[in-house]
Amino acid sequence: MTRRPLVAGNWKMNGLRASLNEIEAMGAAYDEALRARAELIVCPPATLIALARDIAARGGLGLGGQDCHAAPGGAHTGDISAEMLRDAGASYVIVGHSERRSDHGETDADVEAKAAAALRAGLTPIICVGETRAEREAGEALSVVGAQIEGSLPADAPSHVVVAYEPVWAIGTGLTPTADDVAEMHAFARARIEARLGRGGSEQVRILYGGSVKPSNARELLSVANVDGALVGGASLAAKEFIGVARAYC
Ligand code: PGA
Repeated sequence: MTRRPLVAGNWKMNGLRASLNEIEAMGAAYDEALRARAELIVCPPATLIALARDIAARGGLGLGGQDCHAAPGGAHTGDISAEMLRDAGASYVIVGHSERRSDHGETDADVEAKAAAALRAGLTPIICVGETRAEREAGEALSVVGAQIEGSLPADAPSHVVVAYEPVWAIGTGLTPTADDVAEMHAFARARIEARLGRGGSEQVRILYGGSVKPSNARELLSVANVDGALVGGASLAAKEFIGVARAYC
């Protein structure tokens, strides 16, 4: 089973129109050798998706949103539906990022509904899970992530859904788990995805690692078994660094 690696940039609440230059530069650096080895997508703020559409397409890059509402439309001031993201030019959407779970109180049930909405709209959801530092120190990392997978993945999800393991304590901190801890978690996650989706499907599901990925540690983290790519925050804002992460596959 070969899973095409996916390197996804999560810009979070960063990026103005001037930042489209970085997407242009990413496309310019996304050469044939890299295209043969990994899929690259950028998830800018929603305000930039429609503006980035042609630039990303020229560079062979995909685009994603960072969140979506579960409903296709209606009276939800300030929210954005999966259908709107798709219409703007996205093909992916991140759901259940730990910053959404903590800043907006999103539950597993909310995340599952958002993932289902993404699939309904023809988007691929990147479903985020991950334990806090206190949970890891209490020896609960596997059980917490297992429960998040069980609660956040739609039971009938197709195998093109993406799961991202992002330990909360590794996000934006410069800290990363050991390769052994990543290997243990990703093998465990694959088994739990299999239990949720049924055999066959889970072998094709890509499981990304996220949390302080940068060019200097990408090769080690991305070569771990069952790590099928990266969800990159800070290091995805500049083309040079983002491409430096992806080059781990060359
Ligand atoms: P980071 O963020 O790479 O800046 O740690 C990752 C994420 O939150 O997706």
